[in-house]
Amino acid sequence: MLQELLDDTVTALRNAVARGAPELRPRETGTITHIGGGIARIRGLPSITSEEMVAFPEKQLGIAINLEPDEIGVMLLHDSATLSAGIEVRATGREADTPVGEELLGRVIDATGRVLDQGKSLRFNEHRPIERPAPEIMDRAPVTVPLETGIKAVDAMIPIGRGQRELIVGDRQTGKTSVAVDAIINQHGKDVLCIYCAVGQRGTAVARVVDTLRSHGALAYCVVVVASDEDPPGLRFVTPYAATTMAEYFMENGRDVLIVYDDLTRHARAYRELSLLLRRPPGREAYPGDIFYIHSRLLERATHLHSDRGGGSLTALPIIETQAQDISAYIPTNLISITDGQIYLSPVLFHKGLLPAIDVGKSVSRVGGKTQYPAFRTVAGDLRLSYAQFEELETFSRFATRLDEDTRAIIEHGRRVREVLKQPEQRPLRAAAQIAVLRAVNAGLLDNLDIDNVSDVEDRIQQRVLSELPELCMRMESSQVLQDREWEQILTVASDAVSDSYQGIKR
Ligand SMILES: Nc1ncnc2c1ncn2[C@@H]1O[C@H](COP(=O)(O)OP(=O)(O)O)[C@@H](O)[C@H]1O
Ligand SMILES: [Mg+2]
Repeated sequence: MLQELLDDTVTALRNAVARGAPELRPRETGTITHIGGGIARIRGLPSITSEEMVAFPEKQLGIAINLEPDEIGVMLLHDSATLSAGIEVRATGREADTPVGEELLGRVIDATGRVLDQGKSLRFNEHRPIERPAPEIMDRAPVTVPLETGIKAVDAMIPIGRGQRELIVGDRQTGKTSVAVDAIINQHGKDVLCIYCAVGQRGTAVARVVDTLRSHGALAYCVVVVASDEDPPGLRFVTPYAATTMAEYFMENGRDVLIVYDDLTRHARAYRELSLLLRRPPGREAYPGDIFYIHSRLLERATHLHSDRGGGSLTALPIIETQAQDISAYIPTNLISITDGQIYLSPVLFHKGLLPAIDVGKSVSRVGGKTQYPAFRTVAGDLRLSYAQFEELETFSRFATRLDEDTRAIIEHGRRVREVLKQPEQRPLRAAAQIAVLRAVNAGLLDNLDIDNVSDVEDRIQQRVLSELPELCMRMESSQVLQDREWEQILTVASDAVSDSYQGIKR
């Protein structure tokens, strides 16, 4: 009898060692004293540590965030409907973590690994902490490779590099999500994995993004990590960190990764909600004092790793929603100062139908310019200049009754440029196609066209350059500097395309 008991104990210990859990801890339990708003207060659990996971009876999880002498505050990651005061809870001894691995690609999950799509259930091989220190300076390399969005206005004038953090900011319904989703779609065949992290959005909005990704064949190289507006604030708060951990797994395996946080305004609100419930002192706009830090420590994790560390990269596109175009509000200014630039979307441009509604004058990229292909840089310089000049003149000319020839010419040219910068959503373009058409408009080839015909002609130019000059297109998408004679070749093909269309129009 005793021998049997001993044998059992030895076997149990062996199994525990084999599972890699040699440290046996006495099981510690506590009791819920109060529950509400996605927070549980718990008595007991004397040796719990900050950010340790707490398990509730029906496998719900929470994370200890407030440790006080006689009570701890736990933010819940799951629905609390079945929980009430008096229920016993257990410390897990595990730091808050999230699943990582290849098996996540193509799936829609939450930060705890719960499957949210109709696919088969997932078995995880590995979990990693959701909060991890950002890479050391010595482990970081300069940003050298472009992260192409396929959007002309961005790639030409606000270029982004792999490992950069570029904010997308604008009022609601200005096309923020569309810009980010287009950037993801454009990574098709480019060997960049993508994470779309949805925080606090309605379920239908997330479903729409998932559908778009799927219909463009992009879901296969994506992980969609969701905390919807119906999830508890704790889950909404941890989701961006968990999504970043998933992205880092790929980056540390030498891959290039793009992560979209949609959006961090709602993330900040979730944290404010938690902080107020935990009775932490509110500061400006009722946000707690460490609100800057929650976003800076998140975005510091985006980087380009040194080749000694595998050379992977993590590019971050955080999204912020402003109210009444106020980019000087608390959260937008924080994010603007943390990131390496911003793409500003204007409701005014949106209502004029100038889509994507990117306000080039208020947008900037402080890192990506160095990564732009030389051919792109050549066309982008002219473009920015003539466009800025045009915008200024257009404003003034509204009050003038008669314009001199030069002014008129600049304005007519500017209108063509603006027309070319328009782009429907979900139609990202190859860099060579963008360069060719921008070169053509810069050279004035489109100046005599009717505005309404510009977009057709643009398509023709792209098609002809891509099919007639395939090798030159490869050179445009490389670090090589194009010769004058090569630019001539492009312009010749482009003007052929323009005169073809003239004939098409006349006929
Ligand atoms: N380039 C574009 N061309 C045409 N429609 C667009 C474009 N970008 C966005 N839209 C439309 O504008 C609406 C708002 O876009 P969305 O990305 O959801 O805005 P936000 O995320 O800023 O709220 C959507 O209906 C979308 O289809
Ligand atoms: Mg959106």
